Parts: sequence; structure tokens; C-alpha cells
Amino acid sequence: MVRSYDPTRPVDDAVLTDLLDQASRAPSAGHSQGRDLLVLRGEARERFWDVTTGRAAGPSAGGPPSDGLPAPASPDRWLSGLRTAPVLVLCLSDPDRYVARYAEADKVAARASPGAAGRGSGRDAWPVPYWDVDSGMAAMLLLLGAVDAGLGACFFGVPDHRHHEVRDAFGVPTDRRLVGVVSLGHPAPDRRSPSLRRGRRPFAEIAHEGRFGVPFGAGHVVGVDPDPAARAHGRPLPSIHKCTSRPDGYLSTMSDDKSAAKDLVTTLKDGQNGYTEAADKLTQSNRPEWAQTMTRFAQQRGQFAQEIVDMGHAYGDDVDESGSVVAAAHRGWLSLKDAVTGDDPSGVLDAAVQGEDHSVQAYEEALKKDLSADFRTVVQRQHAEVAAARDEVKGLQTAS
Ligand SMILES: Cc1cc2nc3c(=O)[nH]c(=O)nc-3n(C[C@H](O)[C@H](O)[C@H](O)COP(=O)(O)O)c2cc1C
Repeated sequence: MVRSYDPTRPVDDAVLTDLLDQASRAPSAGHSQGRDLLVLRGEARERFWDVTTGRAAGPSAGGPPSDGLPAPASPDRWLSGLRTAPVLVLCLSDPDRYVARYAEADKVAARASPGAAGRGSGRDAWPVPYWDVDSGMAAMLLLLGAVDAGLGACFFGVPDHRHHEVRDAFGVPTDRRLVGVVSLGHPAPDRRSPSLRRGRRPFAEIAHEGRFGVPFGAGHVVGVDPDPAARAHGRPLPSIHKCTSRPDGYLSTMSDDKSAAKDLVTTLKDGQNGYTEAADKLTQSNRPEWAQTMTRFAQQRGQFAQEIVDMGHAYGDDVDESGSVVAAAHRGWLSLKDAVTGDDPSGVLDAAVQGEDHSVQAYEEALKKDLSADFRTVVQRQHAEVAAARDEVKGLQTAS
């Protein structure tokens, strides 16, 4: 979800038309198509924010997420970011259209079938309100289409007590439900939602097979059913669950990101210090040209550490503990202080190789953790470059 947009770049009319057309083709129960998409741009969009924040009448009352997740640290930041979206699309559902559709002859005739039980006689008879489901399907197509079109988008809810005023402000019939709003625009630099700190629920906890609580594919992992008794009683399979689910539940992903980030920043800063000292020593040796390589890698480690620290900040976390690291021994670089220079700079390279072996190992440890997709991509890229640096230093060591 994108919650900050470039206010100077409107969404092209043709692109918006395509997105709406695509969304209007979303699947719907009984092909009822009981949803409407109301586009707000320019002044209408301003009016939406006035109404939903209470500025149209009375004190400010809302704006931040109403998705049941924790509110962002600053509702004002949420609001000022979302307000930059040049386009808002209200996603409205129309329950009566479904009730009427399911009262038609074909649906009445099919009422005896398991898929239709209880429907058609009134809104309350529906175990699942398909009108809201279908609006969600249309909203999802807007979100996906936006990504394909190179745009950013966010689905968000309107504060409960403002639904009536929003309907009123834009002439929406009172029988329509305001399922949510999709903001659209060209993405601008954004802070990630604090909700993402919950991390992702493990796949095996969400995807079940055969019986609730049995992780999808559990039987296929070893080729045979590993615990038929557990399966029969609907108990989760312990060995699989041990790998995929932890007592800290939703927090598992973020806590892994955070601990891996801290370890890597520590290692990278060690490397930065080590390479800087190595460069100093080599400048005074008979191989001053190697000092440039050391300086290059010192800079690389500084950039890598900063990239991870910045990612942490985007989640609201401080993963830089380098203050306490300064006093710590340089892991793998211990022999550096004893390394001889002058005619024999090889000791410096030995220390650098040890330091690099430690760095590569730290990345390999991090990649074994349950990292979020974005962070894993960064760690994988840095791992490849750190391994290449290690090989380059080993090449110098071999040649010396
Ligand atoms: C039904 C629904 C309601 C949501 N409401 C809000 C909201 O009111 N404000 C908001 O900022 N995000 C809202 N979101 C977006 C979620 O916070 C977001 O999807 C979630 O944090 C995961 O982030 P991602 O979609 O960027 O992966 C909503 C999402 C859904 C599906």
C-alpha cells in the first residue's frame, strides 16, 4: 500500500478509465454486480477529506486506519500523506441488488443446492455478505491494476461515524454501503505502515490441508503422512509447526528482521573499521596500491550498514548499535593490530580475509532467518557483493 503521492502528477485519464473498467469486471455473486465506484478528484477530493476529518463541520475526528490494526504513530502524517493522492475511488456496495437477484427464478430453483442455502429472503439471511465481498474484489483489481500501471494505491476505511456524511456529501443513496476507498497516484517517498511490524503470519499457519490445523503440504514434505494420529484428531503436525510457527506469533517475521539487521550492521561496521585500519597500514607498506582496495571496501561496508539502518528507520526501529560495538573486538580482524607492514604487508591481508570470512558467515546466518521479502532481497544482494569482496581480497593474498 502506498500512502504518499506526488501531488504534481495527476493520473492520466485513459489509465484511470482502464482501471475502472477492469474493476467493473471483477467477479460477483450471481453476476449481481452490486457495486459502484465513485471517483473523487479536484474539489470533490478536497471535500472528502474535509468531511471525513470533520473539518466540514465540528472538530476533527478521524482519518487514520480503520482496519482494526494499530493506529499509526502519527495520524497527521497518515493524513498528510494520503491527502496527496490525486484520485480517490469510493467503493460502494448495494445489498438490495443481491437480495433481488437471489430472489429470481433460477436462484430460487437452485436454493436447495448447498451453495445457495438461506439466500434471497433478505440481507440477514446471508451468512457472508457477498455485496461487500464483491466490492472488495473490485477494489483488489484497482490495487493490482495500479501496480501494473506504475501507480501507487492504498485501500482504506472511512471512520464509522462519517459514513453517513460522506454519502450525503456526494449524493450516494442511503442504501449503499461505503466499503472503503482506494487512493491512486504516482508514488512518492513513503514511510512504511507501522502495521507491517506485525510481520507476516507464517505460510504454514495460514494454508491448511485436509483438516484445519494441518499445514498445507505437510504429508508431501516427507512423502508419507508423518503423523496419521495427529491428522485424524486435527492436531497440527509438531515437526512442521516447530519450523514455521513460534510462540511470538505474528511478531516472528519482524523480530527476525530486526535481530538480523542488528547483527549485520554490527558486522558491517566492524568491517568498515577493519578495512579503514588495513588501508592505513598498507599505505605505509611496500604495497600502497592495495590500500585503495581496502578503502573501497571500507566505503562499501559503510553504505551497506546505512542501507540497513535506513530500512530499520522505515519500520520505526533503530538497528544501529554501533555505539556499543566500538569497544568490542573487531570480529575476525583481531590479528590486524599485530600485522606487520613495511616489506611484509601480507599479515594485513590475512586479517582482512579472516574478517571477510566472518562477514560472509554473518550474511549466511541472516539468510537462514525468517526475513520479510523486502529485507531478504537487500540481504541477498549485499551477501553476493560481500562474498565477491572476500574473493577479491583472497586473490590479493594468493598473489602476494
Ligand atoms: C479491509 C482493509 C482495510 C484497510 N484499512 C486501512 C486503513 O483504514 N488505513 C490504512 O492506512 N490502511 C488500510 N488497509 C491497508 C492495510 O493496512 C495493509 O494492507 C496492510 O498493512 C498490509 O500492507 P501491504 O498491503 O502494503 O502489504 C486496509 C486493508 C484492508 C484489506
